[in-house]
Amino acid sequence: MELEYTQQLLQDQEYLALVKRLEQQERQRLFCRHGLSHFLDVARIAWIITLEQIEQKGMNVEHLAQYKDQIYLTALLHDLGRLAEYNHIRSHDHAQEGVNIAWKFLKRIGYPEHKAREIVNAIKEHSGDEKSNYDLSNIIQMADNRSRNCFFCGAQEQCYWSEERRNKTILW
Ligand SMILES: [Fe+2]
Repeated sequence: MELEYTQQLLQDQEYLALVKRLEQQERQRLFCRHGLSHFLDVARIAWIITLEQIEQKGMNVEHLAQYKDQIYLTALLHDLGRLAEYNHIRSHDHAQEGVNIAWKFLKRIGYPEHKAREIVNAIKEHSGDEKSNYDLSNIIQMADNRSRNCFFCGAQEQCYWSEERRNKTILW
């Protein structure tokens, strides 16, 4: 089945409820939001980047269907640490809280542990500086930045993103 584990995650009622709660909490947020649409934007853009790399550079990706599943899972889980931030749960370490949430769901859907570890690393690293390789963390990070339409945003003046990080075009 295509996107086997992703489909399981999207049927998990607790996961869906968490995403809904996050969307609710960000309803008044001036800056970028982190709901299901954002997660799917990141998943799809990350997948496009992967396909382009395969086509242009002959990048060799073993088990492509499984990799697609891994990309989607990472994207669907990458920002759940925001909930901890908004709810002041261990507020000193919301990145770690996001990792804990991701582990819980990956375990519950029976996702292989060594693959889950790669997802968790990508979640930990996704908000740092972009690197030049195309591993899972960097693809997610690139997709995360490119999913934002900074050129159309009304909060540009107040936004903390660096000029470099801002997405000023739909091309990349
Ligand atoms: Fe994100």
